[in-house]
Amino acid sequence: MDGIEARKRYHIDLCLDLGDEAEFRGKTTWFEHVELVHNALPELDLDEVSLEAELLGRRFSYPLLIEGMTGGTEKAYDVNRSLAEAADRLNIPMEVGSERAGIENRELAGTYRVAREASPKLFLIGNISGVQLAREGVGYAEKAVEMIEADALAIHLNCLQELVQPEGTPFFRGVLEAIRRASERLSVPLLVKEVGNGISREVAEKLAEAGVKAIDVAGAGGTNWTRIELERARGIDPEKAGLAELFSEWGIPTAASIIEASSVEGVEVIASGGIRNGLQIAKAIALGARFAGVAKPLLKPALRGSGEVERLLKRLALELRAAMFLTGSRNIGDLRRCGYVLTGPLLEWAKQRSGGSSSRIRM
Ligand SMILES: Cc1cc2nc3c(=O)[nH]c(=O)nc-3n(C[C@H](O)[C@H](O)[C@H](O)COP(=O)(O)O)c2cc1C
Repeated sequence: MDGIEARKRYHIDLCLDLGDEAEFRGKTTWFEHVELVHNALPELDLDEVSLEAELLGRRFSYPLLIEGMTGGTEKAYDVNRSLAEAADRLNIPMEVGSERAGIENRELAGTYRVAREASPKLFLIGNISGVQLAREGVGYAEKAVEMIEADALAIHLNCLQELVQPEGTPFFRGVLEAIRRASERLSVPLLVKEVGNGISREVAEKLAEAGVKAIDVAGAGGTNWTRIELERARGIDPEKAGLAELFSEWGIPTAASIIEASSVEGVEVIASGGIRNGLQIAKAIALGARFAGVAKPLLKPALRGSGEVERLLKRLALELRAAMFLTGSRNIGDLRRCGYVLTGPLLEWAKQRSGGSSSRIRM
């Protein structure tokens, strides 16, 4: 097993073993600082509520995205198959994990392609890192798209993870330019995501200007890669372990990042990072997101089969429907216009960050 394959396997095992320890501790998503205004007179029946939503020009049954997690190992094959089968049945989009292992070792390509084989009609999103894109060029992105016949490609930005990973490559010069070139030349739309530290308004503006069509904030408050890498670095690299410890609560909380990215024109915002229930999804959409993405909570169910994945996603949909009913939102468009109140540190954040010229932060 080569380096990347071993690391991918270790990541999944660590995520499973660490459970809640793989999440932020001191920092939350800040969704608890968003209050949706209750509507005692919704003037609609529960079954009239429609959860249909659009992303990157395609219509889906729910505003739910299965976030990119894995590929490149035997377990990853099973995970990607379960996720794809569930996504197909629910008519929602799915993203694979970083395709580097499959691009560099074609024998592993099947562990990603299994998602496409499970469903030819699935809206499938490829995944490579910004660092690899800058280093290898657009041809690398084309290979990622080709491997799974992707409908869109996600570029992940993970500067903190690269910084604290023992074998990390924190070389981010030229990433924005590489994203711009890829958005001009690729045949599918580009999505840019973080992996748990959030995206600011300034970064979202640069990405929108570079031609990126969707931004997945992957904010702080959910899966914490710095903590996961800390577990790995401890025995191998004390210096990196020290850095990981210091920065283990670093990042823009998901709710704040949604407000930041949604203030930028021309990009569709996906809310992710610590999405654990449908009420959080309703709040994310009210703050300006189009979709909500879930990663780690789906990992264990995916190892048990697609039925378990479907059950969890249906619970989220049920909770979202309830929140929509209680705010009098007949559809996702209504929910995006529903009343909310920000409190505590999120209100403070929004006030201090609402000065930018392009800001449309609602206060
Ligand atoms: C096991 C696991 C593997 C992941 N691998 C990738 C990856 O390869 N590429 C990527 O862009 N994000 C990856 N992520 C990050 C997720 O896509 C997501 O942005 C992040 O975990 C926040 O969502 P969550 O709090 O619901 O887990 C991974 C997450 C998990 C839990």
